[in-house]
Amino acid sequence: MNPVSEVVLAYSGGLDTSVCIPLLRERYGFNRVVTVLVDVGQPRSDIERGNLRAKQLADEHYAIDAREEFVRDYLFPLIKANGSYEGYVLGTAIARPLIAAKAVEVAMKKGIDTLAHGCTGRGNDQLRFEAVFRCTSCRVIAPMRDLDLAREWEIEYAREHGIDVPVTKERPWSIDENLWSRSIEGGRLEDPFFEPPEEIYGWTKSPDASRPAQVVEIGFERGVPVSLDGVRMGGIDLIARLNQMGGEHGVGRTDMVEDRVLGLKARENYEHPAATILLTAHEDLEHLVLSRAELRFKAIVDDAWSELAYMGLVEDPLYADLNSFVDKSQERVNGSVRMKLYAGCAIPVGRQSPDALYSQEMVSFDSQTLSQRDAEGFAKYHGFQARLLRRRCS
Ligand code: ARG
Repeated sequence: MNPVSEVVLAYSGGLDTSVCIPLLRERYGFNRVVTVLVDVGQPRSDIERGNLRAKQLADEHYAIDAREEFVRDYLFPLIKANGSYEGYVLGTAIARPLIAAKAVEVAMKKGIDTLAHGCTGRGNDQLRFEAVFRCTSCRVIAPMRDLDLAREWEIEYAREHGIDVPVTKERPWSIDENLWSRSIEGGRLEDPFFEPPEEIYGWTKSPDASRPAQVVEIGFERGVPVSLDGVRMGGIDLIARLNQMGGEHGVGRTDMVEDRVLGLKARENYEHPAATILLTAHEDLEHLVLSRAELRFKAIVDDAWSELAYMGLVEDPLYADLNSFVDKSQERVNGSVRMKLYAGCAIPVGRQSPDALYSQEMVSFDSQTLSQRDAEGFAKYHGFQARLLRRRCS
């Protein structure tokens, strides 16, 4: 008899990873497929459907609730680093390394030496999963990429294997959702000139200027959001609440062309009300408390952080180096920001901090604290070299 060959599959419950289960048996000869579905805040119904499907299709299934860890170890660092890649709030990108790490944990625990994912060879996710998978000595398998399958073929194969298919011709969108964002891709959206129909949106209402504005006060400690309107709450609740509030006002829709790591440009549509509100508020508070030099330098760090996060390179030592800098910079990012939600926008309308570098007394039009005349010497030197040059040339 053949020895038992086992594989751990990072499983989402969607078409691709569902099709992977029978494929791993039939095309790769594994006798046991172990699936791991990680909860990073996708809708309950998706998780339940995924768990049910996995139980029917796989030999063993793990459902792991990683929401706390996702918020604490991935989203809070993202907020502190003002994470954004070309204007994308990194929702899918930041979740992938955690999902991969959970699959690795199961493999280690079970002594299984092969890991699989259902990503295609076109996108970023294959890179993000494998950057983590390949930190182990495990063999890595990517059936979707290996077999170069067309969607039509997959749908047919799924039907033959009793997998009820979640996509239909009328609703052809491919959706990825977690606590931080929802992405919508595929179908006619692949034409970047095609305006998205309202039906693609699931978290946000259409921005409506006749809807009265709402102001929410967000409290931060060391760069991390800790309260809404003075009420302390955990990160999961706080983000879910802001998604709901912001969604009512149509906040946080993005329609963009994004440069994937491989170089392909992709048209992407996202919804992320809480991310928009929190990132805008956080950056606003930084402008109250950090020095000009810190702000300029941190923008460079934030950019480097965001690029690593986009690429899924959280195991690169630079990622930890940058996080150390960011954490140090956040010691004074305490206080609160009042955010106005209105007609698709989230606008800072007030900020306060015990650590503000702001002096109303000195900056005020009415102030006598500083003598204006002291600035004259400074002004004489300002632009000095340009004047020298002008004199030379004339
Ligand atoms: N463009 C997004 C990213 O690379 C992915 C959007 C979700 N799509 C997906 N196939 N996972 O992060």
